[in-house]
Amino acid sequence: MSETHISIQDLNVYYSANQALKNISVEIPKKQITAIIGPSGCGKSTMLKCMNRLIDMTDGVTWSGKILIDNEDVFDKKTDIINIRKKLGLLAQRPTPLPMSIYENVAFGPRIHGVKKKSILDEKVKKCLITAGLWDEVKDRLNSPASQLSIGQQQRLCLARGLAVEPEIILCDEPTSALDPVSSQHIEQQLLKLKNDYTIVIVTHNIHQAIRLADYVIHLYLGEMVEHGPANEVFENPKDERTRAYINGTLLADAKTDNVIDTKGNRCPYNFVYAKQALHALKKGETLKIIVDDPTAVTEVPRGMEADGHEVLSVKQKNNTDWEIVIRKQS
Ligand SMILES: Nc1ncnc2c1ncn2[C@@H]1O[C@H](COP(=O)(O)OP(=O)(O)OP(=O)(O)O)[C@@H](O)[C@H]1O
Ligand SMILES: [Mg+2]
Repeated sequence: MSETHISIQDLNVYYSANQALKNISVEIPKKQITAIIGPSGCGKSTMLKCMNRLIDMTDGVTWSGKILIDNEDVFDKKTDIINIRKKLGLLAQRPTPLPMSIYENVAFGPRIHGVKKKSILDEKVKKCLITAGLWDEVKDRLNSPASQLSIGQQQRLCLARGLAVEPEIILCDEPTSALDPVSSQHIEQQLLKLKNDYTIVIVTHNIHQAIRLADYVIHLYLGEMVEHGPANEVFENPKDERTRAYINGTLLADAKTDNVIDTKGNRCPYNFVYAKQALHALKKGETLKIIVDDPTAVTEVPRGMEADGHEVLSVKQKNNTDWEIVIRKQS
């Protein structure tokens, strides 16, 4: 692994009594793309927010542990938060252009940091728009309102705006989830180029995107890091069964199942027993979808089914309480 840029050590985060991240320790390498994957609510955004201290904006949040960036602890009282946020640019899920012109959106950050000279600003705006892959589309209308751009163009403008303050690290929280496929491809292409000069951490729900972009992968599951490693190893041969289930489940999309059993309201091991009974009625190779709402069942039912020799095809969160586990009968 190349040189470490962000070192996370024993990070725990609580929203009041609810623990969102549990004992996370991981090294994020310099000038590589690290993808954070995992089901909804597993703590992906929380992890990004800790890195750039946006977590401070949430009431009732507490944390322990360290995040070292260039050997400076971002949580240390002496650390300058403005400086941290300058170092870590954030590309959010939806583009958030400022209500001003295309030019002014990109010039905004450098102006705040004291750049006044027009020629320097012009040069900077051009450079950042080129790097974000937007220059050719906007060079003749730099003074038009940013709001007139398409959503995909607005997202590239936000990327340019972030680059203008010369960050070292780009954090992306599902940066393409609001974009059409062509705009998403544009952003992905820029990120692949940007990793030559920047460390990139991207949260994505899209396994295909993670496969296309990531050098390293972190899989979070209910606040724990259950897998971390080089992307090719994680995708081809995940060590953790939950990672395998998550990757397979996402890649298999919503495969048709032969039977469905709703075990909501039942706790472990009863949901497992009911699932086994339902599986008994199926033939080898047929599939069963099990709906559970007991958090223990989310890990224990797949584990038990694998121990019985069946194949876990997917484990997916459907809403705040419900999960669907799909099993293929093997014996
Ligand atoms: N401001 C908050 N106050 C209380 N709880 C929160 C807050 N933000 C997040 N949480 C809780 O912390 C956990 C992790 O949330 P987080 O937003 O980090 O998840 P995520 O993996 O980014 O999910 P998603 O894929 O849906 O964006 C969840 O259980 C969530 O409900
Ligand atoms: Mg999130």
